Amino acid sequence: MSLNIALSKGRILKQTLPVLEQAGFELAEHPDESRKLLIPVKNTDINVIIVRATDAPTYVRLGAADLGLVGKDVLMETGGSDLYELYDTGMARCRLALAELVDSAKSESHLPAKIKVATKYENIARDYFARKGIQSEIIKLYGSMELAPHAGLCHRIIDLVDTGGTLKANSLVEKETICHISARLVANKVSYKLKRAELVPLVDSLKQAFEHAE
Ligand code: ATP
Ligand code: PRP
Repeated sequence: MSLNIALSKGRILKQTLPVLEQAGFELAEHPDESRKLLIPVKNTDINVIIVRATDAPTYVRLGAADLGLVGKDVLMETGGSDLYELYDTGMARCRLALAELVDSAKSESHLPAKIKVATKYENIARDYFARKGIQSEIIKLYGSMELAPHAGLCHRIIDLVDTGGTLKANSLVEKETICHISARLVANKVSYKLKRAELVPLVDSLKQAFEHAE
């Protein structure tokens, strides 16, 4: 029975592929040198499918991929309960944080009762402010969040932070860490039951590979 593993493009692909290769999963073509998005793993019935990070849970949830390597941020935003989160790979580590302009961090008095917050993570942001009992207007953006407060679009942003370099370069400071993020190994719920004989050993060898990579 053939198996599909969805790999999120970008940092997750870049960081996890060398680990997979070290564990003996040799791709028929390298994603850096090929435009192919479905790539067989040599000498196996496994295919790697290269998907946009935000699409990865959809592939797994709907069974187009049996397994996936997906950012916890994307899982939280899209609601991860309809797939199995099997393992924290420890790859693509970063954090989701609330940030604001350095100048406004000096005083809270500039803030209206309802604050405007720009983010790619609308659902996480809504939950976060609801839990805090803070009124907010969430503005969905698809990138370059750090620009939004400077352009007067919002008071604060919620975005991923790793080194903090992007915040610093744009005169922003982290106000609060919302949660820690890393790439998770996830499985389609039906596949995990029906293809158990193939998936369990595969998952075990992937876990081992990531354990040794940390
Ligand atoms: P999309 O095309 O879906 O918008 P993207 O362009 O944001 O994805 P990446 O920036 O590589 O692609 O992010 C993919 C995943 O990598 C994120 O969902 C997150 O889990 C993780 N990630 C993003 N930014 C960082 C970072 N600065 N450091 C570490 N991991 C990160
Ligand atoms: C991500 C994230 C931040 C940056 C944080 O952006 O959205 O902007 O990394 O990393 P740092 O703390 O190490 O600076 P990315 O580089 O993926 O660009 P994007 O805006 O296209 O997602």
